[in-house]
Amino acid sequence: MNDSQKIIIAIDGFSGCGKSTTAKEVAKALNYIYIDTGAMYRAVTLYFYRHKVDTRNTTAIQMALQNIEIRFEYEAATQKNITILNEEVVEDEIRQMYISERVSAVSALPEVREAMVAQQRQMGINKGIVMDGRDIGTNVFPNAELKIFMQAQVQVRAVRRQKELQAKGQEVDLQEIADNLSQRDHLDSTRTENPLRQAEDAHVIDTTQLTIEQQSQKIIQLAVTLQNV
Ligand code: DC
Repeated sequence: MNDSQKIIIAIDGFSGCGKSTTAKEVAKALNYIYIDTGAMYRAVTLYFYRHKVDTRNTTAIQMALQNIEIRFEYEAATQKNITILNEEVVEDEIRQMYISERVSAVSALPEVREAMVAQQRQMGINKGIVMDGRDIGTNVFPNAELKIFMQAQVQVRAVRRQKELQAKGQEVDLQEIADNLSQRDHLDSTRTENPLRQAEDAHVIDTTQLTIEQQSQKIIQLAVTLQNV
């Protein structure tokens, strides 16, 4: 495959639908780069939390953003893309509940979105990427060749998220997880700046009854068809 055939795959949807896991599988199968934009907003949230950035103060936000450098690194041992914030590995820390509880508010700030979206567009300049988030198909790459919108019942999403956290040794109450997912769905889809919404030309995938393997295969098949056009 030559580079000119590579496309941009935008995967948006509600929290906990399996977007990241699916996106990683798709990227691996197509030999594309995977970019987790949620991790970027989580890393900003961690920085703001640690540095007690006053989110009502535009100047403070802008100054803080200038001190934030986020990048991803492939870790061969775990075969995972890990998030690095100012040279510190924060991959596990940004998945903690205290970040999940604060990230929707931070990601709704216009200055934060502007800075992250600019970086995301830069990352997609050579195509060959799978990017997952909330506004990828609608705002970051409105011309993406393939757009996916994922949804699933909240209780099913909560059970999956609880298992993920348990695998990392974190015991969190199921209702607490379900409440956090519902609250983030609400905040993410009602904010003023680039809210979560389905792009008109997106393929909708309901993952309630699907395995990661099934949802990944659907996307890979769509991508392969488009790559060969
Ligand atoms: O995908 P995630 O659950 O890790 O994302 C964390 C939060 O970041 C999510 O609740 C909303 C925000 N987000 C966003 O506003 N825009 C994106 N493109 C990705 C995530």
